[in-house]
Amino acid sequence: MEVIIMPTEEKATLLASKLIAAQIRRKPASTLGLATGRTMENLYAVLAEMHRNEGLDFSLCRSFNLDEYIGLPEEDPNTYRSYMNKHLFSKVNIDIRNTHLPHGNAPDLDLECEQYEKRMKECGGIDLQLLGIGRSGHIGFNEPLSSLASRTRAKALTPVTIEQNAPLFPRPEDMPKRALTMGVGTILEARRILMLATGAEKADIIAKAVEGPITSMVSATALQLHPKCTVIVDDAAAEKLQGKDYYHWIFQNEPEWADYR
Ligand code: GLP
Repeated sequence: MEVIIMPTEEKATLLASKLIAAQIRRKPASTLGLATGRTMENLYAVLAEMHRNEGLDFSLCRSFNLDEYIGLPEEDPNTYRSYMNKHLFSKVNIDIRNTHLPHGNAPDLDLECEQYEKRMKECGGIDLQLLGIGRSGHIGFNEPLSSLASRTRAKALTPVTIEQNAPLFPRPEDMPKRALTMGVGTILEARRILMLATGAEKADIIAKAVEGPITSMVSATALQLHPKCTVIVDDAAAEKLQGKDYYHWIFQNEPEWADYR
């Protein structure tokens, strides 16, 4: 795992965007694993700007999102499908038919999850998986105790997650209490993983995820098992990390990061 600490949220978001853009330029037909949440809104705005100003080309990309709420009709403004259409898909030249999210209102959820995994495989697997982190330590909606080998499935949301996300609903009590999510095992199969976390409220969970022991109580700790995982944080989210000096040294000195300093 590599940890990169940028001084501000803006710079952290820009670096993550540049890494995604580099992936798309290196392999125009990339399969991207995408995430939602407040943190990603700024990142998608930067990607849209790169599309407009630098011609970043999404036309051959395919995408699979991590998760979706159960029980909302697809066109509901609170679905992650609506979020993705609004923040990214309508702003870049991705073919909407190549964008995938699990259908949270499918009549047979187990079958939907099975087919979602199948579609991912048919597309050659995820080249780059983007991740945020929830206050419960979840990646996707893999709440505490999610098996580190779990696959796409339905998951009940914890009170911490409901408290975190309910304010995004016009009527907080309408937030679904269950979601479909890629499993931890599914996520770990991506060829490369990029986690972005910003703000002081993420400092405790980032310290646990990066430097704590691997445990299903904090799903994000499973990323320590991945051979190519980069965690980008701003100063505020890095506050509780023990190894800050070492992480700074790596970013400033390793040739791999020369183009991004
Ligand atoms: C939701 C998503 C997660 C995401 C999290 C972070 O819960 N299911 O995949 O990591 O939000 O949210 P935010 O960026 O708003 O802190």
